[in-house]
This record gives sequence, C-alpha cells and structure tokens, in this order.
Amino acid sequence: MTTECWVQTPTTRYPVVVGAGLLEHMPEYLERASVGPDRPLFVVTDENVQEVGYADQLTAVLRNAGYSVGVGVVPPSDASKTLQTAESLYEQMVAAGLRRNGVVLALGGGMVGDLAGFVAATYYRGIPFVQVPTTLLAHDSSIGGKVGVNLKSGKNLVGAFHHPLAVVYDVSTLATLPPREWRGGMAEVIKHGLIGNPELFADLAARPVPEYPGPEFTASLVSRAIQVKIRIVERDEHESGERMKLNLGHTVGHAVEQYSGYRLNHGEAVAIGLVVEAEMAVRRGWLSGSTRDQISLVLQRHGLPTRTDNFPFEAIARLIQHDKKNVNAHWTFALPRAVGDVAVVRDVTSEEVAAAWAAVHGENGGTA
Ligand SMILES: NC(=O)c1ccc[n+]([C@@H]2O[C@H](COP(=O)([O-])OP(=O)(O)OC[C@H]3O[C@@H](n4cnc5c(N)ncnc54)[C@H](O)[C@@H]3O)[C@@H](O)[C@H]2O)c1
Ligand SMILES: [Zn+2]
Repeated sequence: MTTECWVQTPTTRYPVVVGAGLLEHMPEYLERASVGPDRPLFVVTDENVQEVGYADQLTAVLRNAGYSVGVGVVPPSDASKTLQTAESLYEQMVAAGLRRNGVVLALGGGMVGDLAGFVAATYYRGIPFVQVPTTLLAHDSSIGGKVGVNLKSGKNLVGAFHHPLAVVYDVSTLATLPPREWRGGMAEVIKHGLIGNPELFADLAARPVPEYPGPEFTASLVSRAIQVKIRIVERDEHESGERMKLNLGHTVGHAVEQYSGYRLNHGEAVAIGLVVEAEMAVRRGWLSGSTRDQISLVLQRHGLPTRTDNFPFEAIARLIQHDKKNVNAHWTFALPRAVGDVAVVRDVTSEEVAAAWAAVHGENGGTA
C-alpha cells in the first residue's frame, strides 16, 4: 500500500509518498513534480547506502527513463555533514554538467538529507531537491525543510530552510538498516506519538516494534509519525513557536548525545532526554507518575536506554547552556503535559533539570 499526504505551508506545497518499492517508480514521481528527462539529476548518497545497492538501483531506473544522472558518494556518518564535503559535491556537480535546471536527489538517512539539501539550497543560489529517505529516523528529518551542515563547534550551525520538491519514502529500503539504527528511529516515532498521536503511542505500548516489521507495517508506522510532524510544520514553518514542541526529549537529549562523544546515537540520547523531561513534567505536577513510567517502559521495550551511566549533571548543564536555543538564564524546553499534549516553556532553571536528572539517575528515584 502506498500512502500520500501533502505538506502545505505559506511558502510551499509538496507530496510525501510512503510505500514499498517506490525507487522503481521514481521517474513517475519526478514527472509529477514537473522534472522531466530534460533536467539533469545528481544523486547524493553515502557509502553504506551505495553498498546495499540502492544508488545503483535508483540510477539504473532513472537512466532507463532517459534521465542523465550524476552520483556523489560520501563517507557515512555525521563526519561527512561538513562544508568541506559540500564543497566537494559542488565541484562534482559542476563536473557532471548540473546547472540551474538541475535537481538533487538525497538518497540516504538524515545525514545525507541534511547535507544534500544544504548543497541544493546553495548551489546556483538554490536548486530543487527530492528527499529519498532510507532510514527510520529520516521520517523526521526529511519533513520540514531544515537542511544544514555541522561545524567543529557544534551540530547544524550552518543551514537553511529549503523544502524538497517531494519526499519519496521507499520503506522497503529499511530492510537493510542496522537494528540499532531502527531502534534509534523508533525513539522519534515514540516522540511523535507523545507530541500528537496518543493512539500511536498506545499501539506502541501494546505492541512494541523493536525491529523492522516488514514494509507494510513500516509504511503505516512512518505515515502516522510523519502526520504529526507535518501538522506542526504547517502551522509554524520557521520555528517561531509551536514547532519547538518537536524538541521534546531533545534539549536534554542533545547534551547527552554530545557528552557521550556520539557513542550514543541520536535516538538513544533522545530516549534518555524523553525520560528526564517527563520527570520534569511530573515534578511540575503536569504529568502523572504512571504516564512517566509508561513512557520509560515503552522506550525500554524498543531496546532504548532510559538513563546514562554516570554522566555528571554539571557537564550536561554546560552543554544545555551552550545549545543555540538557550540564550537566556532561563532555558526553553518542550515538556509533556499528557500523552498527545506538549507545552513549550521558557522558564526552566538548571536546578529544575538537576532535580529531575537526579531522580532518574539516583539510587531511589528513577524510572529506568
Ligand atoms: N533536518 C532535520 O529536521 C533533522 C531532524 C532530525 C535529525 N536530523 C539529522 O539527521 C542525521 C541523523 O539521521 P540518521 O539517523 O538517518 O543517520 P544517517 O543518515 O547517518 O544514517 C545512519 C546509518 O545508517 C546507514 N544507512 C542509511 N540507510 C541505510 C539502509 N537503508 N541500509 C543500511 N544502512 C543504511 C548510514 O550509512 C549510516 O551509517 C543527523 O545528521 C541529524 O542532525 C535532521
Ligand atoms: Zn531528533
């Protein structure tokens, strides 16, 4: 089954197609986006995604349909999400004959989507791109138009808003995703349930999905999580308010991810962030202890960690302070009020986070 929904913001409108075997139909999706074979294409991917064959499959389908296709392959992981890699891709695109009428295809996970999207946003002052996600986490990163690269001093510090022409999500590619990457992506699916789809969260509580369940079930899971993100992005395209709800679990999560030296992947760090932030909400009298415990249990049943081993809170607090979203003495957090209801608060103090951190990590408190 293939599902299709649309993202509609004041500046753009594009389809998000989710289904199995979609790579084979890419020419149709391009035609529908008014990208015919007269326009040169450039596929950006990483070595792992190339290794499992998707880049070859996609380029073969496109060339058969008469497109000219260049390919840029970068090493995997966020180490490639840099201005240096972007520059190398620009040069390859020039060499491949891509001009203003060219189109970039981002074939890979969130790293490739952010990097290729940034390259598309800046090459010839901006050319179109299509998101072709191949990880579960990319259900989050491929929607909403945030693209960018990292600097040595921090993640995602250089970037743009550049929406894709379309998102074509072939969920059968997730069959080869390493299990740990699947679980990391589930942290974001659980997050989307908590933010805006209580039924999704309840389903995951009743029947956890700790590993790839096949394309049909994955398609429905991904579509439900994507809908939550789309609704919020549509209402707040440039993150001036409501879109900050999507940071649930991320204020603490980013700090934990950084402090771990990226030993914890993004989803694992977000899982810990979700638990600490749920504890904060309990302490504000917003969330029941049983809901906090259920959040923790659902994460655990997806093979995700719910506490760190011995990360000193002082170091975590310093990293939160450095986070670009926290320029004031008071910190901005997204906190859960109930499953399906998240509030953005701007009055969080270090002491408040410290107390929740200690409760989660302490001998007697803790939800882990
Ligand atoms: N733009 C946004 O709104 C947004 C939101 C969330 C995250 N992000 C960004 O997304 C990135 C993380 O995304 P990610 O978790 O998808 O990481 P990723 O793109 O690094 O992919 C994870 C790993 O899986 C491999 N891989 C990808 N698809 C595969 C497949 N089908 N089969 C086998 N291996 C495969 C990759 O090579 C990589 O090793 C970070 O850079 C983060 O900053 C962006
Ligand atoms: Zn995230």
